[in-house]
Amino acid sequence: MSPSPPMAMLLLAVTMLSCALVTSVSGSGLAAHPAYSDDGTGTCGPVAGTRLEEYDGGRIVDITHAYRPELPAAGPDGLGRVVHLIMSMANGTLFNLSELRMVVHAGTHLDAPGHMVQEHFEAGLDVDKLDLAVLNGPALLVDVPRNTNITAQAMKSLNIPKGVRRVLFRTLNTDRKLMWKKAGDMSYVGFTEDGAQWLVDNTDIKLVGVDYLSVAAFDYLISAHVVFFKKPDIIPVEGLKLDDVEAGVYMLHCLPLRLVGAEGSPVRCILIK
Ligand SMILES: *[C@@H]1O[C@H](CO)[C@@H](O)[C@H](O)[C@H]1NC(C)=O
Ligand SMILES: *[C@@H]1O[C@H](CO)[C@@H](O)[C@H](O)[C@H]1NC(C)=O
Ligand SMILES: *[C@@H]1O[C@H](CO)[C@@H](O)[C@H](O)[C@H]1NC(C)=O
Repeated sequence: MSPSPPMAMLLLAVTMLSCALVTSVSGSGLAAHPAYSDDGTGTCGPVAGTRLEEYDGGRIVDITHAYRPELPAAGPDGLGRVVHLIMSMANGTLFNLSELRMVVHAGTHLDAPGHMVQEHFEAGLDVDKLDLAVLNGPALLVDVPRNTNITAQAMKSLNIPKGVRRVLFRTLNTDRKLMWKKAGDMSYVGFTEDGAQWLVDNTDIKLVGVDYLSVAAFDYLISAHVVFFKKPDIIPVEGLKLDDVEAGVYMLHCLPLRLVGAEGSPVRCILIK
């Protein structure tokens, strides 16, 4: 069914209006990441908008990766499409309806202790039991020396003061733009077992943020995770988008979905200056 002539006029007017809005927003200097093929500015439809990485003149920084099919995943093909249109107006329904299909450890996400420790899983320590007080509060963004994984020695060299409870570790992964490459790259930087143990023994850190899909380096995939999960009070937040953010102290807000029974969840994380 095609729109009647007055309806078509209205649609056209709305389309032109939103094109004008997009032009003025993108002209205001708000950042859209250049690595997106679709930054939203190329489409001028009734619902066209601009995908932003910062809001309010840079006061709020989005450190969550958009769910693009090209996000990396295990294997060469990337994550693939996660939003599937299952009812379409083009096919005669009165509304469009999409379904979400993905593993819960895709893109920017966090882990619950049941991810790799059976007794925590059996105890029901799912993502819905994670402490929102840990996930929201002041956080330190630090640069890890680029020539190393996050070992005990690297941790020591960072001199993170006692009392700091949330740290986002930016590494060589960000320089290598690994989250912007669709093939999974197992040479990413992460925690070694002794690095994880050093953090547990010598710091007050309860939120550990990293810039690739796993908090643990590939050679320590299970062992470093298990060190963090032992006491179940540390929350790894993985796949953060830390490009173009200055090191320093911010207010961090991370909110996972309340997925009952799930050992991981997508999470929206933002920094506020
Ligand atoms: C719409 O119909 C076409 C043709 O029958 C079909 O290929 C497509 O999958 C349908 N899409 C949805 C979202 O129902
Ligand atoms: C519904 O989905 C169809 C097929 O992708 C698209 O052409 C149409 O613009 C959508 N309509 C709305 C209102 O989003
Ligand atoms: C980190 O460890 C991985 C293996 O777990 C290795 O492939 C990579 O080269 C290491 N990176 C650095 C910078 O040492």
